[in-house]
Amino acid sequence: MERVVSGIRPTGRLHLGNYFGAMVNFLKMQKTNDCLFFIADIHSLTTHPTPEDLHGNITQTLVEYLASGLDPEKATIYVQSDVPEIYELYALLNMNAYVGELNRTTSFKDKVRQNPENVNAGLLTYPVLMAADILIHHAAKVPVGKDQEQHLEMTRVFARRFNNIYKVDYFKEPDAFNFGQELIKIPGLDGSGKMGKSEGNGIFLADDPKLIRKKVMRAVTDSGPTVPNSPVSEAVQNLFTIMNVVSEPEMLEFYKQSYANCSIRYGDLKKQLAEDIIKFTDPIYQRMNDLSNNKEYLNKVAQKGAERAREIASKTVKEVREIMGIKRI
Ligand code: TRP
Repeated sequence: MERVVSGIRPTGRLHLGNYFGAMVNFLKMQKTNDCLFFIADIHSLTTHPTPEDLHGNITQTLVEYLASGLDPEKATIYVQSDVPEIYELYALLNMNAYVGELNRTTSFKDKVRQNPENVNAGLLTYPVLMAADILIHHAAKVPVGKDQEQHLEMTRVFARRFNNIYKVDYFKEPDAFNFGQELIKIPGLDGSGKMGKSEGNGIFLADDPKLIRKKVMRAVTDSGPTVPNSPVSEAVQNLFTIMNVVSEPEMLEFYKQSYANCSIRYGDLKKQLAEDIIKFTDPIYQRMNDLSNNKEYLNKVAQKGAERAREIASKTVKEVREIMGIKRI
């Protein structure tokens, strides 16, 4: 089984776009691959969360991923900071990561532009930590979105460089896990673009039914079709697109027909859409509540994940130390 490694940002608030994007693919991958999914809490320290926020977000992220169906019996699920071997490899890889190339990373340049007051060394070496995350498990595949492609390329560079410097064939260069056609983009409720975190635009798995109804009823539409078969505006098409993933096909067909013959009432469409979203999210929502109240189980999952991850990681670090000449006198 090919090994897959993926880091998850501990933002703790998954929306439907995240669910139908990365999550659906994680759920498939865990059945067919040796998957290691981890919560990248050390990466998130670059933005200086408060200790309370950091801890809360890690817990909430674990809750949301488990509630969505990540299965600790199938995949290895752990918290990055529970595997200190990752920092050790990070320190060692840093010696062969050049400030010039790190400076040129797009994500770093963006961060410098956005937050010139917080250009810390952790941000600069973010790609090295990410390389450590991946290389420590000798991952074959890494599922990455567009924004992470450069980081993965740098992982490949660091792997190759290590092999060259020490004249070994030790690290293998990971490939991107290509979702291809399967990546579904979920639009937002504000009339244009994809679903994001801004309030009103996104529906979160943690939203209760009342809030979901409120958000959907406020979704942007248009003034309605006046001539049969008129083109569908982006805002209305967006609601159809969401309906396409949560509703029965007949329901979507019905509203498309009623748009085409101008009998559509957006209020009805929204009511139906809200109920179908709730039907879809409710079991996840219930599981989230159960899991949040079961700290013992969460702890068990994190511990089991860390044990398996450390088993692999400690072997890698031991081998890397030997290759580099770090050994007892
Ligand atoms: N940088 C990734 C993101 O922002 C998260 C991440 C950290 C990651 N380490 C990783 C992803 C290793 C894949 C593999 O989404």
